[in-house]
Amino acid sequence: MHSKVANPDAVRELIICETRVFIPSIVPELRYWGVDEETPLWAATEATLEQAQLPPPFWAFAWPGGQGLARFLLDTPDRARGRNVLALAAGGALEAVAAARAGAARVVANDVDHVACVAAELNARLNSVQLETDAIDRLDGSDRSERMLAEFDLVLVGDAFYERALSTRLIAALERANTQGVEVLIGDAGRGGAEAAAFAESCHQIAVFETPTNQELEGVAQRRVRILQKCGNAER
Ligand SMILES: C[S@@+](CC[C@H](N)C(=O)[O-])C[C@H]1O[C@@H](n2cnc3c(N)ncnc32)[C@H](O)[C@@H]1O
Repeated sequence: MHSKVANPDAVRELIICETRVFIPSIVPELRYWGVDEETPLWAATEATLEQAQLPPPFWAFAWPGGQGLARFLLDTPDRARGRNVLALAAGGALEAVAAARAGAARVVANDVDHVACVAAELNARLNSVQLETDAIDRLDGSDRSERMLAEFDLVLVGDAFYERALSTRLIAALERANTQGVEVLIGDAGRGGAEAAAFAESCHQIAVFETPTNQELEGVAQRRVRILQKCGNAER
């Protein structure tokens, strides 16, 4: 990463300067540092971001899958209250913020993008909740990663089935965690391929949210988000 942005203070400054505070469409109780066509970061070309050695700013959007999970947790706070919660591939971590707001005992927002971790911390502060962040890749299939997932009562995954390789790794990790008694909730915005569809077959659909989206970003005005609970020995 570019030395200027590797420094968390500089990253924090970049986020605050380049984004603005939004109210997510189906989670009006929460606020989120993000971008739209009015903000300069939106206009930054891929080349500009690459030049700064920054990955694409996925953290700068409250994706429909994460919004659906956040809505679900605020509507059914017992799902999170008093529990140890991990949000995997959390981006700016709206779902993790919602878990904390719902009364989780501990919330960790995980994303391999260090900038996303800083955005998650800013979003936690913006909403007056506490969470931890880490940028560890927990999807490497190692025994250590498996043990680290099993530390949690509940794992959340919002809108992360958008790429085959990532979906395959996520599904393998979620299946292992579920076997060990970890409850798994997915906010699925319907982007996944065959592997995500097969995984969905092994889940219960426990809620559906029609979620207005950013038309410029998504090419559609709305997405249907399904909240899926992995069937297994951790159902509530
Ligand atoms: C589309 S965003 C979804 C963010 C958030 N969950 C939401 O719904 O708004 C997907 C995120 O997955 C992260 N990601 C990709 N590979 C990952 C991995 N191996 N472990 C953790 N996060 C990963 C990306 O950096 C990105 O922030």
